[in-house]
Amino acid sequence: MAIRTAVIPAAGMGTRFLPATKAVPKELMPIFDTPAIQLVMDEAIGAGATRIVIVTSPNKPAIEQYVKPSPEVVKRVRDTGRNELADRLERIGKDVEVVFAMQNEPRGLGHAVSCARDQVGKEPFTLLLPDELMGGPALLQQMVEMCEREKKSVVGLKQVPMSEVSSYGVVTTTATPTSNGEVTVTGVVEKPQPDESPSDLILIGRYVLMPEMFDLLAGLAPAASGEIQLTDALLLGANERNVLGVVSDIARFDTGTPLGWLKAVIEFARQREDVAPALDAWLLSLLK
Ligand code: UTP
Repeated sequence: MAIRTAVIPAAGMGTRFLPATKAVPKELMPIFDTPAIQLVMDEAIGAGATRIVIVTSPNKPAIEQYVKPSPEVVKRVRDTGRNELADRLERIGKDVEVVFAMQNEPRGLGHAVSCARDQVGKEPFTLLLPDELMGGPALLQQMVEMCEREKKSVVGLKQVPMSEVSSYGVVTTTATPTSNGEVTVTGVVEKPQPDESPSDLILIGRYVLMPEMFDLLAGLAPAASGEIQLTDALLLGANERNVLGVVSDIARFDTGTPLGWLKAVIEFARQREDVAPALDAWLLSLLK
């Protein structure tokens, strides 16, 4: 069955990005000139999504404002000659349906995913965290193919230095990945201390989930933090050997912190032909 729905949770408080997030949702912070949520929608569409469910909060109306189709803005972008960007903006709401699910209180990522249940229905779906940016849709495409083939949930994974594991969900897997990075996930822990971490493989905010994951989430009690954790549901799935993973070396940026965001902005700007020469020259002069 084709996987057509993508879920993007965007109802968090963005505490690590205060004071900016007092007025601007983290998901709308520009990566050079394009909001993170646009890049993530583009990635979801690149991996086959024709329907996007954005989980948002009543306190963040700017997200709906951004996503709402605006032929006037598309025309203005086209008038400046940026046709590729105009095409990307135009397909949202035209070729790709976007719907919203409300999370009235930020009760954790697992809870945010549950809020999308009615909109998703009984189908597998992709889940993209908009504060994790990938260079493109290649990883998600591979994960979608794997889910369609194996009929199991699939998580995106990356090896990181042990010093970084305490900010992420960490997994254990069956022995060695296949040549294209495929593994079976055997365990998941949320934000372990480096000396207690079972591995250096982290969840990088890309998931393809079977609809049964909603049942696992519905049965969970809140964690000590009061949040419903997606990692707890993944652990239950992993215990049944129903969760697979792809270990990837894709370039990724965690834009949930100001420094991570700044690095992403610089990298993305350096990929722009119209910007890179001037930016590189300035960066070199700065570092002399
Ligand atoms: P994060 O934990 O990185 O975002 O969640 P946050 O909670 O906004 O950030 P901090 O920790 O307070 O700085 C990853 C994604 O999941 C969404 C966030 O909006 C973010 O895009 N999320 C998180 C929800 O939608 N609801 C939640 O209850 C928690």
